[in-house]
Amino acid sequence: MRKTRIIGTGSYVPKMVLTNFDLENMVDTSDEWIIERTGIRERRIAGKDEASSDLAYEASLRALKASGVKAKDIDLIILATTTPDMAFPSTACILQDRLNARKAVAFDISAACSGFIYALSIADQFIKEGTYKFVLVVGSEVLSRITDWSDRTTCVLFGDGAGAAVLQSSTNRHGIISIHLHSDGALKDLLFIPGGGSRNPASKKTIEKGLHYIKMKGNETFKIAVRNLEEAALEATKSNNINASDIDLFIPHQANLRIIQAIAKRLDLSMDKVFVNIDRYGNTSAASIPIALDEAVSEGRLKEGDLILMEAFGGGLTWASALVRW
Ligand code: UT7
Repeated sequence: MRKTRIIGTGSYVPKMVLTNFDLENMVDTSDEWIIERTGIRERRIAGKDEASSDLAYEASLRALKASGVKAKDIDLIILATTTPDMAFPSTACILQDRLNARKAVAFDISAACSGFIYALSIADQFIKEGTYKFVLVVGSEVLSRITDWSDRTTCVLFGDGAGAAVLQSSTNRHGIISIHLHSDGALKDLLFIPGGGSRNPASKKTIEKGLHYIKMKGNETFKIAVRNLEEAALEATKSNNINASDIDLFIPHQANLRIIQAIAKRLDLSMDKVFVNIDRYGNTSAASIPIALDEAVSEGRLKEGDLILMEAFGGGLTWASALVRW
């Protein structure tokens, strides 16, 4: 039976580092509060000339290099982002052009922080069906452009970055074992950007009201994230007849260290089986999982045959899991 295997990963973060101490000079906050409540110490901020496609391009070059696949051989590019370069064309099309991936079909998907796993699931279908051979899946975000830098309840959380993976079919035991996706639009007002779309098109008024910035009910989102991610992890393990203790590395969405620790505790997973880089990047939404996956690879945290559970949660609400045999 045909499976989908990740054959190369790459990531890119912008050079500029914004520390909690820098934020102390911008809003009424403290390094101590941010570390204690979120686990974040610093995050990266894109340069003035950098957009999502630029970050995606750098991450993709690295993933292509790691995989040994040439851009001209990529059949499909799926890019997950909440911060596209522009409403259209898709950031995936802009990336396709930059990579000179001439034969690739390219499109974006919008699933907020769950975007990378959603994109992975689409790629998985196309590969399992035999439609496409090589697929590039990317999560890229410049959240600093949609962050209200005067709102201390959100501006300390987010950062910019991109991660990418090249996928190919496999006929052995290595590859994606299962992906489970979930959505609940009834909870759309917990985490959203009200302005700039067809509901509230950009105007002087929407800008004055700050409707083009991320709004989040942090506390409610936190509780639902912990509950849903625990349930999703149990769904992934039960449906594959394994126990949480069989997981070699858990790669969760990096939104809040306390959320990550709470899920690990509920699953009885020790923290040395959990990949954490939120301290350095904050929440990079759709880029969070692929950056973490790439760092896990480059730090030698994954060996052939390891069982990895990736989990994401974000605006929509959306949440998802992917169980992978490395
Ligand atoms: O990726 C998408 C999914 N996102 C998430 O899963 C994020 C989920 N939410 C969270 O991570 C947390 O809810 C936050 C980190 C956003 C907030 O932490 P919290 O422990 O839930 O704090 P809170 O919102 O209950 O606020 C506690 C206090 C409040 O003060 P009062 O009302 O108790 O006086 C806030 O005003 O902390 C205050 N506060 C801050 N103080 C210093 C809120 N933000 C800050 C800040 N610095 N940056």
